[in-house]
Amino acid sequence: MAPSDDAGPLRPDSETGLRTIDRYRQVRARTLEIVAPLGPEDQVAQSMPDASPTKWHLAHTTWFFETFILQPLTGGWRPFDAAYGYLFNSYYETVGERQPRPLRGLLTRPSLEEVLAYRAFVDQRMETLLEQETPALLELGLAHEEQHQELILMDVLHLFAQSPLSPAYLEAPAPAPSEPAGEAGWVEFEGGLVEIGHDGRGFAFDNEGPRHKAWLEPFRLADRLVTNGEWLAFMADGGYRRAEFWLSEGWARVQAEGWAAPLYWREGDDGWLEMTLHGLRPVDPARPVHHVSYYEAEAFAAWAGRRLPTEAEWEHAAQAAPLAGRFLDPKDLAPAAATRGERGLRQMYGELWQWTRSAYAAYPGFRPAAGAVGEYNGKFMVGQMVLRGGACITPAGHVRASYRNFFYPHQRWMFAGLRLADDAPPQRVRTQPASSDFARDVLEGLSRPAKSIPPKHFYDAEGSALFEAICELPAYYPTRTEAALLQRHATDVAAEAPDGSVLVEFGSGASVKTRILLEAAPQMAAYVPIDISREALEAAAARVRRDYPRLIVEPLLEDFTRALELPAAVAGRPRFGFFPGSTIGNFAPAEAVRFLANARRLLGEGSRLLVGIDLVKDEATLVAAYDDPQGVTAAFNKNLLERINRELGGNFDLSAFDHRAVWNTAESRIEMHLISRREQQVRVLGRDFRFAEGEGLHTENSYKFTVDGFSGLAAEAGWRVGRSFVNSAPAFAAVLLVG
Ligand code: AVI
Repeated sequence: MAPSDDAGPLRPDSETGLRTIDRYRQVRARTLEIVAPLGPEDQVAQSMPDASPTKWHLAHTTWFFETFILQPLTGGWRPFDAAYGYLFNSYYETVGERQPRPLRGLLTRPSLEEVLAYRAFVDQRMETLLEQETPALLELGLAHEEQHQELILMDVLHLFAQSPLSPAYLEAPAPAPSEPAGEAGWVEFEGGLVEIGHDGRGFAFDNEGPRHKAWLEPFRLADRLVTNGEWLAFMADGGYRRAEFWLSEGWARVQAEGWAAPLYWREGDDGWLEMTLHGLRPVDPARPVHHVSYYEAEAFAAWAGRRLPTEAEWEHAAQAAPLAGRFLDPKDLAPAAATRGERGLRQMYGELWQWTRSAYAAYPGFRPAAGAVGEYNGKFMVGQMVLRGGACITPAGHVRASYRNFFYPHQRWMFAGLRLADDAPPQRVRTQPASSDFARDVLEGLSRPAKSIPPKHFYDAEGSALFEAICELPAYYPTRTEAALLQRHATDVAAEAPDGSVLVEFGSGASVKTRILLEAAPQMAAYVPIDISREALEAAAARVRRDYPRLIVEPLLEDFTRALELPAAVAGRPRFGFFPGSTIGNFAPAEAVRFLANARRLLGEGSRLLVGIDLVKDEATLVAAYDDPQGVTAAFNKNLLERINRELGGNFDLSAFDHRAVWNTAESRIEMHLISRREQQVRVLGRDFRFAEGEGLHTENSYKFTVDGFSGLAAEAGWRVGRSFVNSAPAFAAVLLVG
């Protein structure tokens, strides 16, 4: 998008799921639906130099298809009207002279009817062409049209806001005031070397690439957008009157244009009102503030003692956030208040474009495409600022994490708001969950010929609860068997932990078996449960603190497969590691060795590590444990799909997949799969993935061991094998490793 009227090249998207011709029809028809509430008189006026009449947008997008697709691909092409090239060229120097942008409102001719006839003429020829081929620039043309769908609404709002009648584009009753927004929370990021930019899969504008590395210092982002209520506080504190908050150019604007509030705010007898596409409405303090310039966003951040995010920070954070938002819903064209009670980043997409502090410039390695479409984005790369995320008037499916919108810092008529950011000292980001790994692993796993997702992603709050339910099942013997085994040998195990030890538990879940050790070894002074599920970790830590008030409890929200550091509060204590439940069986052998080696490094010389391992046994017992008649394991398996739907904007139909557990003798493992019941296409984070009928998504391996086999892995990782405690039926062992 941009104050420019177009956008850039050029990778055709083959993953839309719709036949090309249907997608073309759908996008073109949508434009006409958007203008349908307008009268002909609304469609000819231009309210300022940056905006264009609706009629001009309708003709210009049509001209784009005619000029860049039909003309080059149709032998002997005869234009609909030779004058239209001049009237409806936006800014393409390569294509020729044009009507100056600020004077588009003077084009009383051609009439709206003639413009609609022009659309029909071009559509008919485009459809004929699309029956035969998919032109390389088609996706660009469609994305361009979608940009103009948004521009039409922006321009109409600006036009209507000039009218003393404050007309509504669409009448809709004013909603009840939202619940108070509450304090914004912060989501912290470690930073480091990250990758941003479009990865080349699916369509993107040229300015989104090449994908490249960026270095980020630790940072944090507010978990929601800045609200009207917060903006009112800024105004009440003299925000528009105190030069100290403003960039010099911004302050000059405030003076020159008399800014005292966001663009569409009007002071009424009963407080502030704002002009919206639904007419004048009271300013709702809980909804996000919008129609503010970059200068205003900067001033607000300075007043708040924070800053705006960079575009690399925003994109890095967005890669892990669901690509979901409200986007263009003709019944409700105002940004909504953040949903309360949700954790993590909210309002990332589809409410408001969010100002970043990054100047719009070429990424390393960027080259504009050859020819006229090379003018689409590249030539605007000076003096503008980048906005991210998409607005409530942006068509759904139009934006992605890498999407770069750009406007001049003084412009206010687009649907722009802001999210605050801040620098985060490194020690405060110890508990950054690995949620961004989730998005990456899912996208990578679904792209493979044999689809698979690592089992660690089962364990969101719901998955952790389902796993606890599995542990109670009659068929799932490992938990019960191991608990009884530990009870029987608790004194022997406890004797291995010196006074003042710290118990470090990998994948602690509900910390149930931990209690057997804590009861038997009162000399343990500290406990560090490590788990990827925040809910499970916090709840378990609270219960352990309650029941063992003298114990130092320092939970670590982490993926325990990563190389870790223990919290400073337990430094210097003898270390006793605990890795129960045969979770080690969920790693491939090489990963198991890597994990054991990391644990050896973390726990150090002279430490102990007690590992629970499930032993090889008869196939029927094994399969029954992973395919229980109550269907709990099936629900656990399918929760992965639900989690993708929830967190990554997926659209998996859970009823279209079957849970399957099989014993793989050669690999000595139980495998869990989700089998597609039919040929289907699934969308995740804006990308489409096909499943053939009967195709599987491999979700888990659960290796089964012999004590000797496991001892070999431990030895490879630098451990010496101490005592092992074995239960014969069902076969299960706890092996004590010595560092
Ligand atoms: C956590 N892990 C050891 C369990 C297992 O047995 O592999 C996970 C599980 N999957 C299905 N049921 C239980």
